[in-house]
Amino acid sequence: MNPETAPDAEARRSTPPVRALLRVAVLISGGGSTLANLIERICDGRLRGVRIVQVVSSRPDVRGVEIARGAGLPLAIVQRRDFAALDAFSDALVHAIGQTPTDLVVMAGFLCRWRIPPPWRGRVLNIHPALLPAFGGQGMFGHHIHEAVLRSGATRSGCTVHLADDEYDHGPILAQREVPVLKDDTVETLTARVGQAERELYPEILQTIADRGTAWLDSFIRPVK
Ligand code: GRF
Repeated sequence: MNPETAPDAEARRSTPPVRALLRVAVLISGGGSTLANLIERICDGRLRGVRIVQVVSSRPDVRGVEIARGAGLPLAIVQRRDFAALDAFSDALVHAIGQTPTDLVVMAGFLCRWRIPPPWRGRVLNIHPALLPAFGGQGMFGHHIHEAVLRSGATRSGCTVHLADDEYDHGPILAQREVPVLKDDTVETLTARVGQAERELYPEILQTIADRGTAWLDSFIRPVK
């Protein structure tokens, strides 16, 4: 029988192709609010076509680890202090990520610098709670960022999703979301406002990658001349 005239051919034509799941490894170091947000959105269907296949924490005793365990996600602990050299730490991370087939690495409050080897370059995302390149780099994490923003008198802050490279908070920017800095803002109120923007922007970018495929990320990488 000609497969194109078979009775179910019409039905097959009108059925959208089944997309492969975007398999994500999440790197954490702390509270795990970013991880919790992704888990929640995957579970309630707001983030579609994404599966967290591995969580790697650089600390064993943080809330993020509890969140990963509570969600039943595969978890590995890779501590920076267990490795003298950056390369050895990076190899251990790559090994942990490679436990299962993975398409994308998502840094979610991961505080350690690591050397991203060629197979993973352009496939590692980070979110930073400021408008990079401002207020990024070593020492710019947590409340330090928002304190610096308030001290500077900036009237806008926000968050940045970028492809990670081997430097802190560095690499091609995929998207930013701005929020106002208000006159009476404290570190707490600004953290909350930026946090809300982060909880929306990171899943939006992951949804785009799940829909378009990881090759979409290649358009952000400038070819080396
Ligand atoms: C967020 O501000 C995020 O931008 C930064 O880490 C913070 C979240 O940490 N990368 P966590 O997810 O609660 O551990």
